[in-house]
Amino acid sequence: MNMQASALAHPNIAFIKYWGLEDEARRIPANGSISMNIGPLATETTVSFDPALMEDVLILNSQVVSGQALIRVQHFMDRIRRMAGSTLHARITSENNFPVGAGLASSAAGFAALALAGTAALDLDLSERELSALARFGSGSACRSIPGGFVEWLTDPLTGETYAQSIAPADHWDLADCIAILSEAHKPIGSEAGMRRADTSPLQESRVLDTDRRLGVCRRAILERDFAALAAVTELDSNMMHAVMMTSEPPLYYWQPDSLAVMLAVKSWQAEGLPVTFTLDAGPNVHVITTRPLMEKVIRRLRQIPAVLDVLSAEPAGPAHLLKQDSPT
Ligand code: DP6
Repeated sequence: MNMQASALAHPNIAFIKYWGLEDEARRIPANGSISMNIGPLATETTVSFDPALMEDVLILNSQVVSGQALIRVQHFMDRIRRMAGSTLHARITSENNFPVGAGLASSAAGFAALALAGTAALDLDLSERELSALARFGSGSACRSIPGGFVEWLTDPLTGETYAQSIAPADHWDLADCIAILSEAHKPIGSEAGMRRADTSPLQESRVLDTDRRLGVCRRAILERDFAALAAVTELDSNMMHAVMMTSEPPLYYWQPDSLAVMLAVKSWQAEGLPVTFTLDAGPNVHVITTRPLMEKVIRRLRQIPAVLDVLSAEPAGPAHLLKQDSPT
């Protein structure tokens, strides 16, 4: 048996957001979602099972991790151990190539890489669908970082099976994601705690009821490379999720005044005819989506906005994959 494996996965940015759980224990989302993997941002994770270890050890960006973050990973490793019938513990080292302080969700890439490396290290040979279904137990959005390119997370209404699959490969559409970093602070309420409040908002029900329509528009916009349609549904969906957040009990305000300044700048560039749109996750940073030929121009403009601390650029990226081992163990 190998006992050690390394994997790489990219984060993803959702055009149609996942916010709320229908079944928390089985991690079945309240609604389907569509995202794009983004590279070169990536997480590389190595899992080494070692009979000498009494518990799993996690080293994230060269720092030993303890507390809640470690417990979350240990529970995920328990799931992998159960699948493999193993009682061994592992040393897990994980590195992000993007700034940790950037307020970007690293849990999607992290749990996608961990699902792949952890199962491979125990010689479990899972299908892409099985890996995606597994990754969601680490973090819901992680299931969308297993397949490549443009990805949809769906739930089979009959079986309740929930997993993500590609709609189109990364090279299908040369989009770019220019991420305007406005704050490097850690978010006060993470998405796991935040989305537990989703059902307290009177707007969540209508948001969920309208999701199939938005998913249909988004899927078609991607397949037909229709930027205007993608822009309209992406902004609507982001605004709907943030409306739910702001009307939850107690309310969640992830936007900062500077986030709105960037959103309004994007609206004015749109009025000039530029293909640009925005979307925000559970934090103040603004993902400005454009086409690859306009990426440099959009980055230049974003950097001129005083509140923008930095701009990261990313492009559609491929699936999670195993990395070759340097030396056999
Ligand atoms: C706002 O996947 O981080 O980014 O399942 O609790 O780990 P957990 O949540 P997570 O939530 C992502 C929420 C979002 C929207 C999205 O990416 O779809």
